Amino acid sequence: MKKICPSILSADFSILAEEIKKAELSGADIIHCDIMDGHFVPNITFGPDIVAKVNEITNLPLDVHLMIENADMYIDSFYKAGADYISVHAENNFHINRLVNKIKSLGMKAGVALNPATGIQTLDSIIEYLDFVLVMSVNPGFGGQKFIPNSIGKIKDIKRLISEKNPLCSIEIDGGIGPANIKEVSDAGADMFVCGASVFKAPDAKSAIIEMKRLINN
Ligand code: DX5
Ligand code: ZN
Repeated sequence: MKKICPSILSADFSILAEEIKKAELSGADIIHCDIMDGHFVPNITFGPDIVAKVNEITNLPLDVHLMIENADMYIDSFYKAGADYISVHAENNFHINRLVNKIKSLGMKAGVALNPATGIQTLDSIIEYLDFVLVMSVNPGFGGQKFIPNSIGKIKDIKRLISEKNPLCSIEIDGGIGPANIKEVSDAGADMFVCGASVFKAPDAKSAIIEMKRLINN
Protein backbone atom coordinates (compact mmCIF):
# COMPACT_ATOMS: atom_id res chain seq x y z
CA MET A 1 0.00 0.00 0.00
CA LYS A 2 1.37 3.40 -0.97
CA LYS A 3 1.84 5.89 1.86
CA ILE A 4 1.23 9.61 2.33
CA CYS A 5 3.79 11.17 4.67
CA PRO A 6 2.95 14.76 5.66
CA SER A 7 6.03 16.82 6.53
CA ILE A 8 5.52 18.93 9.64
CA LEU A 9 8.01 21.46 8.23
CA SER A 10 4.96 23.12 6.63
CA ALA A 11 2.79 22.88 9.76
CA ASP A 12 1.98 25.84 12.01
CA PHE A 13 4.46 25.25 14.86
CA SER A 14 2.45 27.40 17.26
CA ILE A 15 -0.23 24.68 17.17
CA LEU A 16 1.93 21.68 16.28
CA ALA A 17 -0.09 19.17 18.30
CA GLU A 18 -3.32 20.18 16.53
CA GLU A 19 -1.61 20.09 13.15
CA ILE A 20 -0.33 16.56 13.73
CA LYS A 21 -3.74 15.38 14.93
CA LYS A 22 -5.28 17.01 11.86
CA ALA A 23 -2.89 15.10 9.58
CA GLU A 24 -3.61 11.85 11.42
CA LEU A 25 -7.38 12.30 11.27
CA SER A 26 -7.09 13.25 7.60
CA GLY A 27 -5.61 9.87 6.67
CA ALA A 28 -1.84 10.40 6.90
CA ASP A 29 0.14 7.14 7.06
CA ILE A 30 3.47 8.40 8.42
CA ILE A 31 4.67 11.71 9.90
CA HIS A 32 7.80 13.05 8.15
CA CYS A 33 10.20 15.06 10.36
CA ASP A 34 12.78 17.23 8.57
CA ILE A 35 15.91 17.71 10.67
CA MET A 36 18.15 20.55 9.44
CA ASP A 37 21.32 21.88 11.05
CA GLY A 38 22.19 25.03 9.10
CA HIS A 39 25.34 23.34 7.73
CA PHE A 40 24.30 20.61 5.35
CA VAL A 41 21.33 22.77 4.32
CA PRO A 42 20.76 26.51 4.67
CA ASN A 43 18.02 26.20 7.28
CA ILE A 44 17.63 25.04 10.88
CA THR A 45 14.60 23.17 12.17
CA PHE A 46 14.37 21.00 15.28
CA GLY A 47 15.99 18.04 17.02
CA PRO A 48 15.21 14.89 19.01
CA ASP A 49 13.33 16.66 21.84
CA ILE A 50 10.67 17.90 19.45
CA VAL A 51 10.53 14.52 17.69
CA ALA A 52 9.90 12.90 21.10
CA LYS A 53 6.97 15.31 21.62
CA VAL A 54 5.62 14.48 18.16
CA ASN A 55 5.83 10.82 19.14
CA GLU A 56 3.70 11.54 22.23
CA ILE A 57 1.06 13.24 20.11
CA THR A 58 0.62 10.59 17.41
CA ASN A 59 0.51 6.83 17.04
CA LEU A 60 1.64 7.10 13.43
CA PRO A 61 5.16 5.94 12.52
CA LEU A 62 7.77 8.72 12.45
CA ASP A 63 10.05 9.15 9.45
CA VAL A 64 13.12 11.20 10.36
CA HIS A 65 14.97 12.79 7.43
CA LEU A 66 18.42 13.85 8.61
CA MET A 67 19.78 16.84 6.68
CA ILE A 68 22.68 17.32 9.08
CA GLU A 69 26.43 16.90 9.46
CA ASN A 70 27.70 14.11 11.75
CA ALA A 71 24.49 12.08 11.47
CA ASP A 72 26.25 9.18 13.24
CA MET A 73 26.26 11.21 16.48
CA TYR A 74 22.47 11.52 16.54
CA ILE A 75 21.07 8.12 15.50
CA ASP A 76 20.66 6.97 19.11
CA SER A 77 18.90 10.20 20.14
CA PHE A 78 16.38 9.96 17.32
CA TYR A 79 15.84 6.29 18.08
CA LYS A 80 15.08 7.17 21.71
CA ALA A 81 12.81 9.97 20.50
CA GLY A 82 10.67 7.38 18.69
CA ALA A 83 11.88 7.34 15.09
CA ASP A 84 10.67 4.37 13.03
CA TYR A 85 12.41 5.35 9.79
CA ILE A 86 15.69 7.27 9.48
CA SER A 87 17.24 8.51 6.25
CA VAL A 88 20.77 9.84 5.91
CA HIS A 89 22.17 11.71 2.93
CA ALA A 90 24.64 10.11 0.52
CA GLU A 91 26.46 13.42 -0.11
CA ASN A 92 27.92 14.08 3.33
CA ASN A 93 28.21 10.69 5.01
CA PHE A 94 31.45 8.82 4.29
CA HIS A 95 30.48 5.64 6.16
CA ILE A 96 27.02 4.98 4.83
CA ASN A 97 27.28 1.22 5.29
CA ARG A 98 28.10 1.65 8.98
CA LEU A 99 25.29 4.18 9.44
CA VAL A 100 22.72 1.99 7.73
CA ASN A 101 23.78 -0.99 9.87
CA LYS A 102 23.48 1.13 12.99
CA ILE A 103 19.96 2.29 12.10
CA LYS A 104 18.83 -1.26 11.30
CA SER A 105 20.46 -2.75 14.40
CA LEU A 106 18.17 -0.55 16.50
CA GLY A 107 15.15 -1.99 14.70
CA MET A 108 14.41 1.07 12.55
CA LYS A 109 14.03 1.21 8.79
CA ALA A 110 17.10 2.66 7.08
CA GLY A 111 17.08 4.89 4.03
CA VAL A 112 19.61 6.79 1.95
CA ALA A 113 18.58 10.20 0.60
CA LEU A 114 19.85 11.62 -2.68
CA ASN A 115 19.91 15.31 -3.57
CA PRO A 116 18.57 16.25 -7.01
CA ALA A 117 22.07 16.42 -8.55
CA THR A 118 23.35 13.18 -6.99
CA GLY A 119 23.50 10.25 -9.38
CA ILE A 120 22.07 6.86 -8.54
CA GLN A 121 25.43 5.07 -9.01
CA THR A 122 26.06 6.10 -5.40
CA LEU A 123 23.46 3.44 -4.43
CA ASP A 124 25.20 0.55 -6.19
CA SER A 125 27.03 -0.86 -3.18
CA ILE A 126 24.39 -0.09 -0.55
CA ILE A 127 21.03 -0.74 -2.22
CA GLU A 128 20.83 -4.37 -1.09
CA TYR A 129 20.91 -3.27 2.58
CA LEU A 130 18.33 -0.48 2.38
CA ASP A 131 14.69 -0.42 3.43
CA PHE A 132 14.09 2.71 1.33
CA VAL A 133 15.69 5.28 -0.93
CA LEU A 134 14.61 8.91 -0.48
CA VAL A 135 14.68 10.84 -3.74
CA MET A 136 14.82 14.60 -3.20
CA SER A 137 12.78 16.30 -5.90
CA VAL A 138 13.71 19.79 -4.64
CA ASN A 139 17.00 21.05 -3.21
CA PRO A 140 16.68 20.31 0.50
CA GLY A 141 16.21 23.12 2.99
CA PHE A 142 12.70 24.49 2.55
CA GLY A 143 9.11 23.44 2.10
CA GLY A 144 6.88 24.72 -0.68
CA GLN A 145 9.40 24.51 -3.55
CA LYS A 146 8.71 23.45 -7.12
CA PHE A 147 9.14 19.79 -8.15
CA ILE A 148 12.25 19.20 -10.29
CA PRO A 149 10.98 17.26 -13.35
CA ASN A 150 13.97 14.97 -13.99
CA SER A 151 13.18 13.28 -10.65
CA ILE A 152 10.69 11.13 -12.59
CA GLY A 153 13.46 9.53 -14.67
CA LYS A 154 15.54 9.07 -11.54
CA ILE A 155 12.73 7.18 -9.79
CA LYS A 156 12.37 4.91 -12.83
CA ASP A 157 16.12 4.20 -12.81
CA ILE A 158 16.07 3.42 -9.07
CA LYS A 159 13.03 1.19 -9.56
CA ARG A 160 15.03 -0.85 -12.11
CA LEU A 161 17.99 -1.10 -9.73
CA ILE A 162 15.69 -2.18 -6.90
CA SER A 163 13.96 -4.87 -8.98
CA GLU A 164 17.38 -6.35 -9.73
CA LYS A 165 19.03 -6.07 -6.33
CA ASN A 166 16.44 -5.58 -3.55
CA PRO A 167 12.78 -5.81 -4.57
CA LEU A 168 11.58 -5.12 -1.00
CA CYS A 169 13.21 -1.67 -0.92
CA SER A 170 10.73 1.25 -1.12
CA ILE A 171 11.14 4.56 -2.92
CA GLU A 172 10.20 7.75 -1.07
CA ILE A 173 9.83 11.01 -2.98
CA ASP A 174 10.28 14.32 -1.18
CA GLY A 175 9.68 17.83 -2.49
CA GLY A 176 6.94 19.59 -4.43
CA ILE A 177 4.50 16.67 -4.36
CA GLY A 178 0.78 17.39 -4.69
CA PRO A 179 -2.37 16.35 -6.55
CA ALA A 180 -0.99 17.72 -9.85
CA ASN A 181 2.02 15.38 -10.04
CA ILE A 182 1.51 12.57 -7.53
CA LYS A 183 0.09 10.11 -10.07
CA GLU A 184 3.01 10.48 -12.47
CA VAL A 185 5.48 10.07 -9.59
CA SER A 186 3.59 7.01 -8.36
CA ASP A 187 3.46 5.45 -11.83
CA ALA A 188 7.24 5.96 -12.08
CA GLY A 189 7.64 3.71 -9.02
CA ALA A 190 7.42 5.78 -5.81
CA ASP A 191 5.77 4.16 -2.77
CA MET A 192 6.05 6.87 -0.07
CA PHE A 193 5.07 10.48 -0.75
CA VAL A 194 6.28 13.30 1.46
CA CYS A 195 3.72 16.10 1.31
CA GLY A 196 4.43 19.37 3.12
CA ALA A 197 2.60 22.31 1.60
CA SER A 198 0.07 20.11 -0.24
CA VAL A 199 -1.28 18.91 3.13
CA PHE A 200 -0.56 21.62 5.71
CA LYS A 201 -1.20 24.60 3.42
CA ALA A 202 -4.22 23.03 1.75
CA PRO A 203 -7.61 24.62 2.49
CA ASP A 204 -8.79 21.18 3.58
CA ALA A 205 -6.08 18.65 4.50
CA LYS A 206 -8.51 15.75 4.54
CA SER A 207 -9.78 16.24 1.00
CA ALA A 208 -6.20 16.81 -0.18
CA ILE A 209 -5.09 13.46 1.26
CA ILE A 210 -8.19 11.63 0.05
CA GLU A 211 -7.64 12.99 -3.46
CA MET A 212 -3.94 12.06 -3.49
CA LYS A 213 -4.68 8.56 -2.20
CA ARG A 214 -7.28 8.11 -4.91
CA LEU A 215 -4.71 9.15 -7.51
CA ILE A 216 -1.98 6.76 -6.30
CA ASN A 217 -4.07 3.75 -5.38
CA ASN A 218 -6.02 3.46 -8.64
C1 DX5 B 1 12.82 19.80 2.14
C2 DX5 B 1 12.21 18.72 2.99
C3 DX5 B 1 10.85 18.30 2.59
C4 DX5 B 1 9.81 19.40 2.61
C5 DX5 B 1 8.75 19.04 1.63
O1 DX5 B 1 14.15 19.93 2.44
O2 DX5 B 1 13.01 17.56 2.99
O3 DX5 B 1 10.41 17.19 3.37
O4 DX5 B 1 9.22 19.58 3.84
O5 DX5 B 1 7.84 20.07 1.56
P1 DX5 B 1 6.94 20.30 0.27
O6 DX5 B 1 6.08 19.10 0.11
O7 DX5 B 1 6.18 21.54 0.59
O8 DX5 B 1 7.88 20.48 -0.92
ZN1 ZN C 1 12.17 15.69 4.01
